[in-house]
Amino acid sequence: QTCALPISPIHNVDPEILYVHITSVSTNIEIFYTQRLLFRKHSPLKIRRETPMSLQLGDTAPDFEADTTHGPIRFHEWKEGSWAVFFSHPKDFTPVCTTELGYTAALGDEFKARNVKAIAVSVDDVSDHNSWIGDIEETQSTTVNFPIIGDPERKIATLYQMIHPQANDTLTVRSVFIIDTNNKIRLTLTYPASTGRNFDEILRVIDSMQLTDSNKVATPVNWKQGEDVIISPSLSNDEAAELFPDGWDEVRPYLRITKHP
Ligand code: BEZ
Repeated sequence: QTCALPISPIHNVDPEILYVHITSVSTNIEIFYTQRLLFRKHSPLKIRRETPMSLQLGDTAPDFEADTTHGPIRFHEWKEGSWAVFFSHPKDFTPVCTTELGYTAALGDEFKARNVKAIAVSVDDVSDHNSWIGDIEETQSTTVNFPIIGDPERKIATLYQMIHPQANDTLTVRSVFIIDTNNKIRLTLTYPASTGRNFDEILRVIDSMQLTDSNKVATPVNWKQGEDVIISPSLSNDEAAELFPDGWDEVRPYLRITKHP
């Protein structure tokens, strides 16, 4: 469909009436702007494609209302005072998702110990989720103890940019958002549908973030809870001596290793 719309200036384009070509690709709309003056009958000039701003670390996680397998929720209210691991699944009754949800349920005590609530979303409705949960519990020998959001209209998947049209224009990719107690996005991960995520890594990264939030340290490659840590480069040696009286191994002036605080 082609129509003429008045739109505000886009870079290098006069703020006049522009021809706008809209190609509907399922829920996603690709918009190509064509400057009228440059318009040629058989080769409209594509100037740029509009893409939404992505959710970034430090952004406030968008709030939403949703139906879930635990009843209706408002996201910020549901997670109040907790961290959240919010993750998407391409589709119900699919094999990789079945193993991921089963493993996440089995980690329930680990999440609880870290003040983390898990919540999943997939683009099917809650009654499908409830039927699928029976299969997950039977095949993965666990109890699904966290809510799964029903999102048949893809409102929440769209809000969190979990649909990547070049990968699949209707199903979500495997997204993970780790959100802290202040509702700030602290980590994002995006995996393809065919690759199951590593939920032990999600626990590991939560351990690192909670440790580094409350201590002037960073964690090195492949670090695990309890292992040595790196003294924050922002600390001078005098400041470090006060915070780490047992000292450190100075591999380089910028690389000081100390015991887990
Ligand atoms: C799965 O969960 O197994 C899956 C879902 C969508 C595409 C491929 C695999």
